[in-house]
Amino acid sequence: MLEIKNTLLSDVSPSLVTALCKIKDMHWPHGLDSQLDWWHRNSDADDRLVALFENGAPVAFLRIRNRVVTVNGHELTAACATEVSVSTGAQGRGFGCLMLDAVAQFVRNGQAELGYLLCEHKQKAFYERCGWKPVADVEIMDSSGVVRPLRDHEFCMICNPEGDGVDGLTLYGDVF
Ligand SMILES: CC(C)(COP(=O)(O)OP(=O)(O)OC[C@H]1O[C@@H](n2cnc3c(N)ncnc32)[C@H](O)[C@@H]1OP(=O)(O)O)[C@@H](O)C(=O)NCCC(=O)NCCS
Repeated sequence: MLEIKNTLLSDVSPSLVTALCKIKDMHWPHGLDSQLDWWHRNSDADDRLVALFENGAPVAFLRIRNRVVTVNGHELTAACATEVSVSTGAQGRGFGCLMLDAVAQFVRNGQAELGYLLCEHKQKAFYERCGWKPVADVEIMDSSGVVRPLRDHEFCMICNPEGDGVDGLTLYGDVF
């Protein structure tokens, strides 16, 4: 049986956090202690978790971070999807797209005005397959106020319920 949950991170049990860090470690192998340390240092109380369970066991997850972006000078609330991870034994069964659809649904429900994520070239085709679209004109303002464009191998993918193209997107923070 497959179950998908969209929940506030603050409601997630420590044992589930450990299980999700083990899934992350399958793809970014830094060791469980390092994963847990990173998780606790980089989690905000209002982060959300989309997690997939098969017969009660977690098999995939992503995090949604609440962000503000600017599109052509207008501030929008945004749902930023990060850490998209499917456990190695469960890849290729549609779970990745299912979770991306949950983010799109979150945006369609009005919980954010735009969904976006950042990825590298090798993941771009996967996100396009899930219906997300690349944005060409993106700049990033880091925490010290320095602005730079995306680099050649970096991509920003969006899901936009209005269906309009998005130009002139500015992201904020120390991303990538
Ligand atoms: C990338 C990842 C999230 C995909 O999840 P998944 O559950 O294996 O993918 P799905 O089964 O939902 O695939 C959906 C479609 O995308 C395609 N697809 C999957 N990975 C792809 C890739 N890397 N490139 C191109 N297409 C891809 C699938 O073939 C499938 O297409 P189909 O329906 O025509 O067969 C997963 O493999 C993963 O966790 N990878 C390691 C971590 C990672 O790189 N995360 C992304 C960080 S930005």
